[in-house]
Amino acid sequence: MLKTIEQRIQAMSVTEKIAQLQQLAPYFYEGGSNMMVTGPLEEYDLSKEMIQKAGSSLGNIGAKEMIQIQREHMLHHDIPLLFMADVIHGYRTIFPIPLALGCSFHPSLVEQCARDSAVEASASGIQVTFSPMVDLTRDPRWGRVMESSGEDNFLNGEMGKAFVKGYQGDLKDSTQIAACVKHFAAYGASEAGRDYNHVDMSERILREQYLPAYKTVIDAGVKLVMTSFNTIDAVPSTGNTWLMRDILRGEFDFKGTLISDWGAVGEFIPHGLATDGADCARLAMKAGCDIEMMTPHYNHHVKKLIEQGEISETLLNESVTRILNLKEELGMFMDPYRGASVEKEQATHLCPKHRQHAREMAHESMVLLQNNGVLPLKKQDQKLAIIGPFGDSHDILGGWSCEGRCEDAISIVEAFQKEGIEVSYEKACTASIDDCDITGFEAALKIAKEADIIILALGEDSILSGEGGCRAHIDLPGVQLELYQMIKKLGKPVIVILFNGRPLDVSSLLRADAILEAWYPGIEGGPAIFDLLYGIVNPSGKLAMSFPQCVGQIPVYYNHVSTGRPKPSVDSKERYCTHYLDIPNEPLFAFGQGLSYTTFQYDNMHLDHTILTHETKIHVSINVSNIGEHEGKEVVQLYLHDVIGSVVRPVKELKGFQKISLKPSESKVVEFVISEAMLRYYTKDLTYQSEVGDFIVYVGGSSVDLQSATFTLQ
Ligand code: GLC
Repeated sequence: MLKTIEQRIQAMSVTEKIAQLQQLAPYFYEGGSNMMVTGPLEEYDLSKEMIQKAGSSLGNIGAKEMIQIQREHMLHHDIPLLFMADVIHGYRTIFPIPLALGCSFHPSLVEQCARDSAVEASASGIQVTFSPMVDLTRDPRWGRVMESSGEDNFLNGEMGKAFVKGYQGDLKDSTQIAACVKHFAAYGASEAGRDYNHVDMSERILREQYLPAYKTVIDAGVKLVMTSFNTIDAVPSTGNTWLMRDILRGEFDFKGTLISDWGAVGEFIPHGLATDGADCARLAMKAGCDIEMMTPHYNHHVKKLIEQGEISETLLNESVTRILNLKEELGMFMDPYRGASVEKEQATHLCPKHRQHAREMAHESMVLLQNNGVLPLKKQDQKLAIIGPFGDSHDILGGWSCEGRCEDAISIVEAFQKEGIEVSYEKACTASIDDCDITGFEAALKIAKEADIIILALGEDSILSGEGGCRAHIDLPGVQLELYQMIKKLGKPVIVILFNGRPLDVSSLLRADAILEAWYPGIEGGPAIFDLLYGIVNPSGKLAMSFPQCVGQIPVYYNHVSTGRPKPSVDSKERYCTHYLDIPNEPLFAFGQGLSYTTFQYDNMHLDHTILTHETKIHVSINVSNIGEHEGKEVVQLYLHDVIGSVVRPVKELKGFQKISLKPSESKVVEFVISEAMLRYYTKDLTYQSEVGDFIVYVGGSSVDLQSATFTLQ
């Protein structure tokens, strides 16, 4: 008969309870490997008991080691170790980076990829993933935009929900794993796009823009929340009792486990909020941080803080209860190994079904930014040259690729070769910041002169984005622009394919005949690009994050406010309005934008009512037709604008989207439902409610190509 959680806690000493709050990397354990370190290391000075009775471990180590560590661990007591890892966009089968997944606008496919990831991770002994990351991101200088689904909180919420459903399901099956939404909160607003930097914003913007996606994911049942490194109202999140107790536990009613980010408990000292480890432990415990990741302050100080009456043992018991509940929900007390095995790894990792999903996901997340008709390619008679650092590169998995191995990936050149299409290839240069070597240009020019069409595979090394990967310049690194200009001078058709973890400044590439944004497309990137270039699959991705004209335009995002002096028109010469003298106000490529090989026509927009009340709904319908020659998918987007508010309101906000597939000449009536609840926001006194008045509803294929109608809330 299994003990209840209460019985377990009653039987535990204070030291044992505190040990449950400690999370350590596997190399603290017998047989633990030296997994990749994702944060700074400190002196731990932990006793053998503190290590042997720790509550959880982080890092992907594989079934064999997990079983070995757990077996050793269970010799010392009957509470199993919980194994967590960063399964961010795949475990061994690596899917496109999350920013690319956001561009797919295809939540059900993202859910499938999360499901595949959980099957592979659980086979390797992982029970919790530190995903989804739903931080709103408006600054491409920040390296971690690659991990988010971009600049819109509605899209971030929908993608976060899909990840949670895919990972967790009903958690009854040992191939399902618990998800952890992060980083709570507003880490994406790091000042100047520099990682770990200061975050400062009004409570209104925090609540209006930055918190909603976490709330959506918490309402979807996510089991853990991870704190963020940054401050909120000048208090680091991990010790911020307003954020963690009033908002997260109170308003959001989150009952799951709160884990610190790596070392964040100890960072109160460099933040200048704490003088020593005891101070750190007190701040984090009072905020309700249940698990301390990779710093030892709870183990060293909580017992004494309780004895001194600085914190109550009730706080400790609450944290231990949440952690043991999580282990119980995961069935760990029934089976501490949860079915992990080398055989399961061999059966699931990189299996054909997962690879197929990776290819489909790559198809749907790439964005065709520009095309003068050079695409799709005709198979037979064109002599192709592939040039550039990503032409035959396997560095196409992107950051946070867990157990993914570059050798699992298929490059563009390999994809062409597999299809029996002869291409010439020259790397010409690298994609690293300090590259100034153009000795490879001569060979590149030679094959370009012999070719009919040139494919330039350009971008930034994957190490130039991700955690700690921030850039003040966001153009193509190294000598890639020089390469592009040299090739362009030949006057032949040039197709640029981009491999990057952030929106780049691509303003110098606009004379290319086509630009395909591939992001880091994962292990099936090469074949997916081949399929898109030849029109075997029609591109359908839409930008989840705006591409700025240049770094000086940052932040630029679609749901901005009007200001008191809006620019009268795109080409207005008015001086005294909000504008730049040297660039347009609009981004180079806008949120929601993405081309297709076919044309979708929108007409017959209709509202069944133009008056909305708290009790009624408005049905918006619009006819979408494929008037081109290629079958294709279209993301039909719904935006709303609150014309007059008690505070200024965004010019539009995404409130719905539907990805539909249409054959040539096929039409479909797409419907959205508008309810009063969709109009609620944080009004002048920060109460969350709708306000009567006029609204504009927009429907279309991007945030800048829309049909509109008006209605009134009474
Ligand atoms: C890192 C990241 C976080 C990750 C954690 C564990 O510092 O901020 O996203 O989940 O540490 O690797």
